[in-house]
Amino acid sequence: MNAIDVIIAKRDRARLTDEQIDWVVDAYTRGVVADEQMAALAMAILLNGMDAGEIARWTQAMIDSGDVLAFGDVGRPLVDKHSTGGVGDKITLPLAPLVAACGAAVPQLSGRGLGHTGGTLDKLESIPGWRASLSEEEIAAQLADVGAVICATTPTLAPADRKLYALRDVTGTVESIPLIASSIMSKKIAEGTDGLVLDVKFGSGAFMKTPERARELAEAMVAIGTAHGLATTALLTDMSVPLGRAVGNALEVAESVEVLRGGGPADVVELTVALAREMLVLAGITDVDPAQVLASGKAYEVWERMIAAQGGDPGAPLPVAAHVEELVAERSGVLTRLDAYAIGVASWRLGAGRARKEDAVQAAAGVRLLVDVGDEVEAGHPLLELHTDTPDAVPGARAALNGGVLVSDEPMSRPTLLLDAVRG
Ligand code: URA
Repeated sequence: MNAIDVIIAKRDRARLTDEQIDWVVDAYTRGVVADEQMAALAMAILLNGMDAGEIARWTQAMIDSGDVLAFGDVGRPLVDKHSTGGVGDKITLPLAPLVAACGAAVPQLSGRGLGHTGGTLDKLESIPGWRASLSEEEIAAQLADVGAVICATTPTLAPADRKLYALRDVTGTVESIPLIASSIMSKKIAEGTDGLVLDVKFGSGAFMKTPERARELAEAMVAIGTAHGLATTALLTDMSVPLGRAVGNALEVAESVEVLRGGGPADVVELTVALAREMLVLAGITDVDPAQVLASGKAYEVWERMIAAQGGDPGAPLPVAAHVEELVAERSGVLTRLDAYAIGVASWRLGAGRARKEDAVQAAAGVRLLVDVGDEVEAGHPLLELHTDTPDAVPGARAALNGGVLVSDEPMSRPTLLLDAVRG
């Protein structure tokens, strides 16, 4: 077997054999296949696709590159959620404690942000003392005790994906449905959850720009889950405008705490409760209403215990940016455009995100939205706040917002958040 034959096969639109897939994923993980060869193969896959059988085998090969976690009996059904990523998408933060408060256990192994979408670990690291890295034993103990864990993936979980994802990120090969589906599902299957709910986003702030592409991705992931005996449901949700009013690490933690205390923006509450309902169905818990549990404050109690179990102080003040500026309306009218991608890039440039894996993020940087799509505004009215510790980042952030935030005369309302569900 050699890498060139595999690359040429996919370049010429052939179906890869099981042996080719097993060999190339394993050889790449061990460093026998070089980065430039895997980059060429990833591009050939992006351009020519893989069929369902190839995707299933590729996923299995990535799972087999590392260990499958086994938490043992934690006394509750295990159920997890994964979002394909968006702007202001802090849903994991209120969702994990909410589902735990309803009786399931949530092993949420998460990543850091790269590009314009934020990472869950970066958000939680804005809480003083909070620790992302836990051993498998610590995760199991916290699942049994608290019912919810949000932490970094362990180093032995799907190492082929870690290496390949970093390569795709710098070779323009992220937006391939077979590669995204196998990347996400290999990690979730290796994590050992019993049920999985996927939040597959579409719109300017998402990887998938249209509902049609999002549905294709959702169907590919649900098919992989079903083939592996993992109960999987996907919700298709809008990401053309940011979720909630806060974009940026500490800003999103603060908004999540508002939701856990029974308040917060309506769209964040709606999506949190909708995902919780789907997770509870997969966990076989049908007699608990997550909306009531959220309003009761029980999810907030689990949040406090979950943060404290990982060394964080849930009562400590969150970092505040050294510099805050407003973007104001240049004319009177209706806010008709609040583009998720533009706001994600602005927040990233203010310091909330990183350009390279090694970069540090600013805990307090980001964007706070002061008005919503459809709101009437007067000329000079503040539309958003730009938060940063490095004021020289502001011109770049303002440039990113050019055309992405628009006041005009057309009546407008927020797009529908929940489009559809794909069930296994
Ligand atoms: N998230 C992942 O984990 N993998 C991808 O390929 C894309 C998003």
